[in-house]
Amino acid sequence: AAFDLVIRNARCATAADVFDADIGIKGGVIVALGKHLAAGQREIDAERRYVLPGGVDGHCHIDQPMMDGSVMADDFWTGTRSAACGGNTTVIPFASQLKGQGLMEAVAESHRRAAGKAAVDYAFHLIICEPTEHALKEELPQVMREGCTSFKVYMTYDDLKLDDRQMLDVLAAARHEGAMIMMHAENTDCIAWLTERLIAAGHTAPKFHAAARPMLVEREATHRAIALAELVDVPILIVHVSGREAIEQIRWGQAQGLKIYAETCPQYLFLTADDMDDHHGHMHGAKCICSPPPRDKANQQVVWDALQGGVFEVFSSDHAPFRFAGEGGKLGAGPDASFDKIPNGVPGIETRLPLLFSAGVLEGRLDICDFVALTSTNVAKMYGLYPRKGSIAIGADADLVIWDADLDIEIRNENLHHDVDYTPYEGMRVKAWPRMTILRGEVVAERGKFLGAAGQGQYIPCDLPTPAKPRVRT
Ligand code: URP
Ligand code: ZN
Ligand code: ZN
Ligand code: ZN
Repeated sequence: AAFDLVIRNARCATAADVFDADIGIKGGVIVALGKHLAAGQREIDAERRYVLPGGVDGHCHIDQPMMDGSVMADDFWTGTRSAACGGNTTVIPFASQLKGQGLMEAVAESHRRAAGKAAVDYAFHLIICEPTEHALKEELPQVMREGCTSFKVYMTYDDLKLDDRQMLDVLAAARHEGAMIMMHAENTDCIAWLTERLIAAGHTAPKFHAAARPMLVEREATHRAIALAELVDVPILIVHVSGREAIEQIRWGQAQGLKIYAETCPQYLFLTADDMDDHHGHMHGAKCICSPPPRDKANQQVVWDALQGGVFEVFSSDHAPFRFAGEGGKLGAGPDASFDKIPNGVPGIETRLPLLFSAGVLEGRLDICDFVALTSTNVAKMYGLYPRKGSIAIGADADLVIWDADLDIEIRNENLHHDVDYTPYEGMRVKAWPRMTILRGEVVAERGKFLGAAGQGQYIPCDLPTPAKPRVRT
């Protein structure tokens, strides 16, 4: 046979085009696109369904070592199995530097955790919490040579936060090396001050998480992040943007001609602060605690508008898998833990694409090409994985998802493949779900059933990301 696999009658959608074609695959790579392709050893009839590049989840936390006693429920096996069933073929979780640990060692530890377990391809971002001269001058270039070319930095969390001076050091190093910086923008002193007052007043329930992190806390930090990046003249990506005030700052920065990229996540389209309220069951609000917190309906609309309007480059899950019950989970500090002792983050690696496809593409809010750009192509470009990942093109990896888009499914945690005991999207209905996820020419998931194997996913070293190039000034 001319091909290992031919996908017939595909309605291919890329970030640029929609076209009908057969897809010829050999050696895990797309080698032909055309009408009436010759026979394949295996053939799949897409029956004119949409076939999209596999999702690239550019922001997810999988088996990340934590310093506060919390433990992630997903390891690389369950996390990537869940990713595959949700239409993803590449994930980029974080290698996290622990205090006192070298950058190389942090990356090596993540490689050990992933080895032999991943069901989809993976790369790593590195979280930097101790930007010493040695780390930035000696280790960072070495880490980059090994394919880790993006770095997350935090303005808050005691174990991770950098002050503005340290931030400038990291930004300057990123500019020098050509790395992409992902910025967690929240004002840490405001949060600490508000938290102290809320707790002193006895306001410890999960819903007060939102009161401790109001929008202005994110707005101020977003503005400051933009100013620091402008000072160093380096592009940055502001991650997990929650609503209007931060979006206004990003629009402002972009209007100045600065390379300010932005990311948002499902929790800011589909959850609100009310989901953290106790009237959903005592402490059940803890399930939706994440930072920045979900806002309100009006802010959801502002996020939709910004997605449509091109403010956001990427749409990621920020999958942060903490169980509701049990040690190391949301209530690890006790059954009545105060909100500031509850690990932050919501799971969502499997539901990211179906939720956005359904409420975005099928409800007419998003063009299918924009959907592909936000969830795959732009992500691959942002982190140096393009054109191997993120496209349907000759020479690209045969990472493809055939979509069912005429369903009526209720999201239920028991049907998901992560190892978390809840989903914040329980009971929501979607009309789309991946019918088949194909990783380098192999079917790894079909209609909500995982068919791949642990260890099938490969480490993909990232190139220097083109969007990280500083502006050309004349
Ligand atoms: O609350 C969140 N988002 N937790 C995950 C870690 C992070 O800051 O992205
Ligand atoms: Zn963050
Ligand atoms: Zn409610
Ligand atoms: Zn995150």
